[in-house]
Amino acid sequence: MKIELLSPHDVAAVLQIEQQANLYPWQQSAFLSSFADSYFSYKLLDNSGSIVGFYIAQLILEQLELFNICVAQAEQGKGYGRILLQHFLQEGAARGASEVFLEVRSSNLAAIALYQRYGFTKTGLRKGYYVSSSGKEDALLMSCIL
Ligand SMILES: CC(C)(COP(=O)(O)OP(=O)(O)OC[C@H]1O[C@@H](n2cnc3c(N)ncnc32)[C@H](O)[C@@H]1OP(=O)(O)O)[C@@H](O)C(=O)NCCC(=O)NCCS
Repeated sequence: MKIELLSPHDVAAVLQIEQQANLYPWQQSAFLSSFADSYFSYKLLDNSGSIVGFYIAQLILEQLELFNICVAQAEQGKGYGRILLQHFLQEGAARGASEVFLEVRSSNLAAIALYQRYGFTKTGLRKGYYVSSSGKEDALLMSCIL
C-alpha cells in the first residue's frame, strides 16, 4: 500500500469511488475545487496502483478540517479507513495544525466509530443539516486536539 498526494488527474477515479460508497456523493465540481491552496488531499493505492480510498482536508492557520474521507465500497472493513485517518492526522500535525474538526451524518455509525477511535469527541449538532431518505438528517460536529 502507498499513500500519495491526490492530483486533478485522479478526479474521475475518486468520483467513481465516492458515488459507489455514498448515497449523497460529492459532485465533480466539489472535487475540482479541492485543489486550492489551503487544501491537501491524499489517495491510498493498493499494490497494483489502483486507488482504494482518499481524503480531502483543509488547513487554515492551525485549524484542520476533514472534508471527505472515503474507501471504495468493496475495500471497506480492511483497515484502509484507519490508514487514511491516521495519515490525515499526522500530515495535519506536520503542517502545523493544533485542532481538528469534521462533520458527519448522525446515522453514519462506521465513520463515527472510526473518528472516536482516533480521539474525536462530539462537540455539536446541526439539526436537519443533511438531506436524507427520510427527509432531513442531523450533522454531528466532532473535534479533537492534536
Ligand atoms: C467510514 C469509512 C471511511 C471507514 O473506512 P473502512 O476502511 O471501512 O474502515 P476500517 O476498516 O479502517 O475500520 C476502522 C474503524 O471504523 C469503524 N468501522 C468501520 N466499519 C464499521 C462498521 N460497519 N460498523 C461500525 N464501525 C465500523 C470501526 O471502529 C473500525 O475499527 P475496528 O476495525 O478496530 O473496529 C468507510 O466506511 C467509507 O468510506 N464510508 C463511506 C464514506 C463515508 O461515510 N465517509 C465518512 C464521511 S464523514
